[in-house]
Amino acid sequence: MTKLKNDTLIRALLRQPTEYTPVWVMRQAGRYLAEYNQTRARAGDFLSLCKNPDFATEVTMQPLARFPLDAAILFSDILTIPDAMGLGLYFAEGEGPKFERPLREEWEIRALTVPDPAVHLRYVMDAVTQIRKTLDNQVPLIGFSGSPFTLACYMVEGCGGTDFRQIKTMLYQRPDLLHHILNINAQAVIAYLNAQIESGAQAVMIFDTWGGALSHNAYQEFSLRYMSQILAGITREYGGARIPAVVFTKGGGLWLESIANSGCDAVGLDWTVDIAEARRRIGDKVALQGNLDPAVLFAAPEVITAETEKILAGYGNGSGHVFNLGHGISQFTPPESALTLVEAVHALSRKYHQ
Ligand code: CP3
Repeated sequence: MTKLKNDTLIRALLRQPTEYTPVWVMRQAGRYLAEYNQTRARAGDFLSLCKNPDFATEVTMQPLARFPLDAAILFSDILTIPDAMGLGLYFAEGEGPKFERPLREEWEIRALTVPDPAVHLRYVMDAVTQIRKTLDNQVPLIGFSGSPFTLACYMVEGCGGTDFRQIKTMLYQRPDLLHHILNINAQAVIAYLNAQIESGAQAVMIFDTWGGALSHNAYQEFSLRYMSQILAGITREYGGARIPAVVFTKGGGLWLESIANSGCDAVGLDWTVDIAEARRRIGDKVALQGNLDPAVLFAAPEVITAETEKILAGYGNGSGHVFNLGHGISQFTPPESALTLVEAVHALSRKYHQ
């Protein structure tokens, strides 16, 4: 068993005592950092950055060199799975992700297969191995995947930023077809996360970015059910260590109890949720991760500190909280604001862990 120099994140996710509240930031390696943009320019484009383990390692380490973060997160993307399925992922400059061959016809859906992570996603596993080596057990490495439903949104719509017309039409008109896609996606995610864990990921997170677009009933049937399948199918103990799993449904604040019952160790909260209320509802069962509004980082340092304190005070005494933003950090964030945040979390949280 490898000994982490700083295992505060793992302990907090398992609700074991810590000295302070650990913090990391969704999209902590990204365009708000000049050095990220430089590496991306050297790689050529975003996908080449993801597909080259040297570059992926370099950008994963960049935020850690600037800020005393309590975790690293694999630099990759959730759309590597549909790319490995052959849908042809590309990023049009300034337009977000797109697929050359979105799933439109029944035969295309029936032809989908589960990619072998050791073959089709080898570059991700190589990145995980190399990042772990470079990290030298300084902090844990978080692996991740998209949720089956969120992946299906991109696979069916063919791009982001839509009104979900195609996928919701399928959901109501041909639920059998959508279930077929979700089943394949769930199997693909299980194999993918298990391969990341075997390669060295020490915690995993499932990003359900679009689950919140579903109705109450559809969320349970088309998103949460498949995340529960994943949580039952992934390795939770590896090399003598527990591998905590976090589920983050953006817009999932109304469903906290059912998310907490999915088999995860921690629930990610977006910024619309009152963390004090979330703790009352599910804090006896799971850890919580979140949930500062990313827009707070556009404000002055005093404001960032005050808003950070509100969330720490909202959670209150004891372990079980991992500080994070309620969604990814904006590319327009001044890096100094991220430093203010990380330092504020560390300094202000000690009084809640005595
Ligand atoms: O947190 C990290 O530092 C790890 C890296 C990471 C990225 N994407 C890098 C990235 C993670 C965890 C993701 C997950 C991801 N990707 C999600 C789920 C999380 C979320 O934000 O809700 C989603 C929906 C995607 C799909 C995706 N990839 C979108 C919608 C975009 C465009 C985003 C934009 O702001 O234009 C991407 C591209 C992407 N993924 C970037 C980064 C750093 C920006 C690409 C660039 O450099 O141009």
